[in-house]
Amino acid sequence: MPQTNALWSAQAHMPTVLSNPQTVIVKGDGAYITTADGDRLLDAAGGLWYANIGHGRDEIAQAAAEQIRTLETWHIFGRYVNEPALELANKIATLAPFDDAKVIFTSGGSDSVDLALKLARRHQQLQGQPEKLTVVSRQDGYHGLHAYGTSVAGLSFNSDGFGPGTLIPETLLVDQWDIDAAERTIREHGGEKIAAFIAEPVMGVGGLVPPPAGYFERIKELAKEFGFLVIADEVVTAFGRLGTWTASERFNLEPDMITFAKGITSGYLPLGGVIVAPSVSSQFYAGNDAPIFHQGLTYSGHATVAAVALKNLEIIERENLLGRVRELEPVLVEELEQLRHHPGVKDVRHIGLMGGVDLADGVSGLDVVAVLEGRGVHLRNLPNNILQISPPFIVTAEEIRTIVRGIRDALDTVHGR
Ligand SMILES: Cc1ncc(COP(=O)(O)O)c(C=O)c1O
Repeated sequence: MPQTNALWSAQAHMPTVLSNPQTVIVKGDGAYITTADGDRLLDAAGGLWYANIGHGRDEIAQAAAEQIRTLETWHIFGRYVNEPALELANKIATLAPFDDAKVIFTSGGSDSVDLALKLARRHQQLQGQPEKLTVVSRQDGYHGLHAYGTSVAGLSFNSDGFGPGTLIPETLLVDQWDIDAAERTIREHGGEKIAAFIAEPVMGVGGLVPPPAGYFERIKELAKEFGFLVIADEVVTAFGRLGTWTASERFNLEPDMITFAKGITSGYLPLGGVIVAPSVSSQFYAGNDAPIFHQGLTYSGHATVAAVALKNLEIIERENLLGRVRELEPVLVEELEQLRHHPGVKDVRHIGLMGGVDLADGVSGLDVVAVLEGRGVHLRNLPNNILQISPPFIVTAEEIRTIVRGIRDALDTVHGR
């Protein structure tokens, strides 16, 4: 039987999706995407924050094709490995903000969060700290949608509706802005029961929140006091979004683990992983009686995906795209600051090539997005009615101006409707 409408879209109210025309994207080139209707749109969101080197790179297609012709993949279980996976892990270790990094591969961001949090608990058990089970996360934080990420979600629409409590019970949410409030919650809970603290260095989906002054410094102090691990969820920020290889480097976070995904392949193929510091990895590497951490997915270290990631990193280095992000950051800041006092705007936030426009009450971000799309710019409205700006690193200063001035014009149209 032929079927229509079989695709269950992501994060979507399906009756609404199916009662309106869907936007089908059929092509990508550089910082632009093209719809099935032939509209060419400037990709101001970088897809879902992944299209860092831009769309449609032939070099990447060639790297994938060559690897597939040679060996599509071979798994990395036990003593087996494949060359691209080995090379990529070593490359990532050189870009990590700490020495002697170990790299575990997964298939995406949610996988990586799940793995890092399990590893945190395993670590504490092996350290003889059986009571250390709680994972602390921040209100409005987003850590993907696996059971662990859902359990530590700070956005209630993602965590609610699965029955009482969280899927994994040992969780604790703390304030994302006020470090004093966060510290109080941690102390009231009992810091000695905490296995790990996980946070996005710059909160993404929850509203483009750069780290409040002193927040992570205090978290590091608490981690030391109570002996819990710090995990930087860099699924959005790793591999250049802030003009450094990691946000941890930019903010001197010194985490025990870093989760990554998106930017490692710029979205050309799915890949995620966890960069693990010696504070956690060393016990699994030392001596004949070293314990095993039972991780490993069929596609962990997939050879073709790893070949694509290596090519992606090569392009970022060859074209100095980190330098470019650093050059573009002040342009984005200058443009966004001019929006700050628009009556349709509550707040603007920016860091690296990430910008957020927090819209005033009564202004619909979806309306702004629709107006902008009609004018050739694709933007994303985040759940808290915040516009997400995160274009590919290859965008020009002029295109950044087009995006932000386009938002202003769209707000003039939409505000007061
Ligand atoms: C900070 C963060 N963690 C985890 C994830 C989940 O990644 P994925 O959608 O690849 O599973 C995301 C996705 O946007 C994210 O932004």
